[in-house]
Amino acid sequence: MELLKQRILTDGKALNSDVLLVDSFINHQIDPPLMQAIGDEFARLFKDQGITHIVTIESSGIAPALMAAIAMDVPMVIMKKSISSILSEELHQTPVYSFTKGTTYQLTLKSQFIKKGDRVLFIDDFLANGEAALGAARVIEMAGATVAGMGIVIEKAFQPGRERLIQAGYAPISLARISYMEAGVVEFEP
Ligand code: G4P
Repeated sequence: MELLKQRILTDGKALNSDVLLVDSFINHQIDPPLMQAIGDEFARLFKDQGITHIVTIESSGIAPALMAAIAMDVPMVIMKKSISSILSEELHQTPVYSFTKGTTYQLTLKSQFIKKGDRVLFIDDFLANGEAALGAARVIEMAGATVAGMGIVIEKAFQPGRERLIQAGYAPISLARISYMEAGVVEFEP
């Protein structure tokens, strides 16, 4: 997505070879027209997949997932990373390790929101090691639903996430694929 790549080049900041700062337009301050264009692009890419629900993970996946859900006219469900101990309803849960934070959280979904037969589009802001996407897919399948698509805003293609997802049978589609980074430098896959 050319608009997104240009914005990454002008307003994104590669801190080092691993971390891209996009907090002025994607995940701290959000640029609504850009986010709307991202949602429209996901809707275009996945329009023929029979999507019934969009699922994301709190917190930075919410904005692109909501925009895509509006464009596709389907419900959007947020998987939680922690859950209130007073919650008594039936839950689907799986542990997810975050390389960035060095911690493990319980990715959690109330079973009432995704059901057997649903065709789910998973959307997230970053694909790095693939832990979050693999965990989300486990939870969606625990619910008896199908992962009918995976849409990623920014993929760090030099990290193993895509390879791991493909090996697990998924086919992620990313709007911007970064092939190389170093401090102050960002390059995209052709
Ligand atoms: P993985 O899920 O693909 O394995 O990725 P990893 O553990 O490495 O990353 C986990 C968290 O770090 C995610 O946010 C992800 O969005 C974020 N992240 C990964 N790489 C980058 C990067 O280069 N730049 C920025 N800005 N974020 C990155 P999270 O912990 O789920 O937090 P939240 O912001 O969604 O609440």
